[in-house]
Amino acid sequence: MLNKTIDETKQGTCLTADTIVLQTGYPQKFYIESYGCSMNFNDSEIVASILNKANFGVTKELEEADLILLNTCSIREKAEQTIRKRLTEFRKLKMRKPSTLVGILGCMAERMKTTLLEEEKLVDIVVGPDAYRSLPMLVKQAGHGQKGINVLLSREETYSDIAPVRLDNTGVSAYISIMRGCNNMCSFCVVPFTRGRERCRHFQSIMHEAEQLFQQGYKEVTLLGQNVDSYHYTDEATQETINFAQLLVKVAMISPLLRVRFSTSHPKDITNEVIQAIQQYDNICSYIHLPLQSGSTRILEKMNRTYSWEWYKERVDTIKALIPDCGLSADIITGFCSETEEDHQATLVAMRYCAYDMSYMFAYSERPGTYAQKKFADDVPDTVKKRRLQEIIELQNQLSLESYSKDIGKTFSVLIDGESKRSVADWKGRNSQNKTIVFPKKNNYKPGDFVNVLIHDCTQGTLLGTVQD
Ligand code: SAH
Ligand code: SF4
Ligand code: F3S
Repeated sequence: MLNKTIDETKQGTCLTADTIVLQTGYPQKFYIESYGCSMNFNDSEIVASILNKANFGVTKELEEADLILLNTCSIREKAEQTIRKRLTEFRKLKMRKPSTLVGILGCMAERMKTTLLEEEKLVDIVVGPDAYRSLPMLVKQAGHGQKGINVLLSREETYSDIAPVRLDNTGVSAYISIMRGCNNMCSFCVVPFTRGRERCRHFQSIMHEAEQLFQQGYKEVTLLGQNVDSYHYTDEATQETINFAQLLVKVAMISPLLRVRFSTSHPKDITNEVIQAIQQYDNICSYIHLPLQSGSTRILEKMNRTYSWEWYKERVDTIKALIPDCGLSADIITGFCSETEEDHQATLVAMRYCAYDMSYMFAYSERPGTYAQKKFADDVPDTVKKRRLQEIIELQNQLSLESYSKDIGKTFSVLIDGESKRSVADWKGRNSQNKTIVFPKKNNYKPGDFVNVLIHDCTQGTLLGTVQD
């Protein structure tokens, strides 16, 4: 995996139709594109399940769809611009085939509410992240020419009882959402407004989903939440409370052959218990994504991240002391309101200290309605943001190359997840530390198999090796 930079990455990626499994035998067809974070991708699988029950099967062909859906992201302005462009293209398609319904789901639907439907007339249906159960009814209404909108946020909805229909066809790795929403109020972030209050999914339903996936042959699950470390669940009957570390262990105990990952940890909440769980269970992957955002405590305060650089540094020290080979990555925002050269330098120093394997790096993008938009001036000029972002990217490239080079000569257990994008003669997979490893095909190994791979070369985003028998 190459270092991810700016918007076209993590929270701006799109699951295009070509990775989707075709569903036949349904009277009507829907096409879906997903943008944004893993949670949004997992939501599309919940939407697919709801639509299957309403007699819609997924198609890869835009032209044959009765219903076109965009599951959207609002995290940065550019993410929304991409969606607008797509909607304009769909409008052209609708002119050729007026019976096609176009719907917008997810965070941008929640943020824009009626605007795209009533003022801009770009869509027929608008459904926010907590209202997917009403999608079949809204599709029916829109088919009769009425407005199909539901953007109500909920304090309870977790879609616990809905078995997601896995849309990508690898059958190796799956996402499990363990909570929704976010109670943190980072001053730059739109998520609390688009996803609502934090709520945790029932422990039993998470376990049931993970067990089922393992029985179906999946070898890896990723537990998802905006702040997984604040997961907590109290059983009404027994009054037993389960925290995130305990959940992690219970999922890991399903089988040593099931890898467990999680995202995202918040530096203020990640506990020693979580770090110890990774240390103690081989199948809990040695990889932590720990968003830094900035290395300057002054900026962190302004961002309302509720930790200082010193706090973050201590968390990293503890991780490295307990799990010396732990993979570590971060999110970084550059050019936040009032950021000085000194603050920027502090971020570079922090990056060097943490020696991240990989980072998602973004220029600050002001979002309507956030605390930062209301109270602070977006006063770092674009040219400065771009230059600082470039410096951050260059440093990360260097750190990645150093980290990947250190793996030459080591042997890793790799879970094969598919063919290398570059060559049909090679498999690709990931090690526990979440590094992508590419190696020549051998001995009928296939996706879903664990193999030991000796590393003999690398780029800054990929380890290259050979299978050891
Ligand atoms: N819940 C996660 C992050 C979710 S959003 C956490 O707290 O770590 C993913 C990343 O997008 C954030 O970590 C941040 O780096 C980036 N991001 C969020 N809002 C942004 C904004 N307004 N401008 C630029 N990047 C932003
Ligand atoms: Fe946004 Fe902060 Fe919540 Fe992450 S923790 S989703 S950055 S408000
Ligand atoms: Fe984007 Fe919403 Fe996720 S804003 S990052 S899709 S929670």
